[in-house]
Amino acid sequence: MSKKAKTVFVCQECGYESPKWMGQCVCGLWNTMLEEKVADTNENDKRGRGTSVGIGSYAKANKVNKISEIQSGNYTRLDTGISELNRVLGGGLVKGSLTLISGEPGIGKSTMILQAAAKISEKYGAVLYVSGEESVEQIKMRSDRVCRANVDRLFVLSETNMENIALAADEMSPEFIIIDSIQTMYTPELDSAPGSVSQVRGCGNELMRIGKVKNIPIFIVAHVTKSGELAGPKIVEHLVDCVLNFTGERNHELRILRAYKNRFGTTSEIGAFEMVEEGMVEIKNLSGSFLEGMEDGVAGSMATAIYEGTRPLLLEVQALTSPANIGFARRTAIGVELSRLNMILAVLDRKAGISLINQDVYVNVVGGLKPEGTSTDLAVALAIHSTFKGTHSLAKTIALGEIGLTGDLRSIQNAEKIVKEAARMGFARIILPKKNADKIESVPSSLELVGIKNLQEAIRAYPVAKRL
Ligand code: TYD
Ligand code: MG
Repeated sequence: MSKKAKTVFVCQECGYESPKWMGQCVCGLWNTMLEEKVADTNENDKRGRGTSVGIGSYAKANKVNKISEIQSGNYTRLDTGISELNRVLGGGLVKGSLTLISGEPGIGKSTMILQAAAKISEKYGAVLYVSGEESVEQIKMRSDRVCRANVDRLFVLSETNMENIALAADEMSPEFIIIDSIQTMYTPELDSAPGSVSQVRGCGNELMRIGKVKNIPIFIVAHVTKSGELAGPKIVEHLVDCVLNFTGERNHELRILRAYKNRFGTTSEIGAFEMVEEGMVEIKNLSGSFLEGMEDGVAGSMATAIYEGTRPLLLEVQALTSPANIGFARRTAIGVELSRLNMILAVLDRKAGISLINQDVYVNVVGGLKPEGTSTDLAVALAIHSTFKGTHSLAKTIALGEIGLTGDLRSIQNAEKIVKEAARMGFARIILPKKNADKIESVPSSLELVGIKNLQEAIRAYPVAKRL
């Protein structure tokens, strides 16, 4: 890379570079361009771009392969010692892979990774934990508090200069490297400040080089603020193999780890943890912990289920309606998309005759989870109906199904597995789309299936169905 620096303007959201300042970036956002100095690579760029380098030299670089003749590779995976993390990674940490783990500050990224680092070092060999945020003493204190493994082969380095980190990695050749966090790292080749788009990109490239050349898996921690202000990490998302995201409420112990990108597995798996004094503790019975505080049969509360990755999850949906003040009625949704809630309210109005135009509506998926699917629609509608009418919701009952614009109840995937989980958790009745109910062959004897065609039918059947 040529050392000559040039000044460019970089969008802090999408990373677009422009030689001139622009009020609006090509990504459509305003005032996101910041001046940064980057190394000028164009002059001596020998990557084969342009007309001076012909097909001959291109062919020399990499051989074209017949896909049928390529041997399919088997990934070597490391066991991180944390089964929820293994699950989200697709079955363990792939050798030579680069993983970005993002989340708000204080959510528990460093804690979980330190626990994994200790377990990996105990099982496989040296692990290098590089921190640009904390001193080695602080990391030691955390390790004393949260690590339940032999940490003899866990090495810590308090450093922010990428060149020194590369040297340390070269000398040690560890089994696993952690960079905490990328926003504090810098490469001296670039003039811009740590955390700027060009630094984050430069450090990301360097880490990829280290990981791929030496076949070492690397975890890169990245902070993301609620408003997404520090967009630097987004720039490296395309470089890395996996992007994991940690979410949770600060005042709530539950933490959910989810993969947004995974080159070695599915992105629909979630990992669940509880953040306690002793660090991150895996939650084995997730449905149980979500339903822990649920009071059966209370107005405005309804149990429902989603299917995440390879496992069913039972959840509680709560709703409250209250007369609105003059003006516009408020709609507040936590865990449910506002547009989805508005659609359900419109269907309730037009198809079931329940008008909430002068009511404030609040909906909450208890536990801080934001389900991605639509299988919770029916539960949301029934919870709203129940609170509005002041009727008790059915005890020990689960409502499932996607609501269509005509009020029809659409079938959901993996209903059979949800039914099994419901029986395991002691539920007695499931209201679900008729198409699903008809297909399920083995129904546990403790469970009654109520197959429903549309929302109107669900509302009609629901107060009539016998109370348990
Ligand atoms: P940390 O892993 O540092 O978060 P991140 O790396 O994502 O910024 O976790 C910090 C959390 O740890 C903090 O929110 C509170 C918790 N914590 C304890 O539970 N006990 C303690 O003794 C300390 C120091 C922190
Ligand atoms: Mg941290």
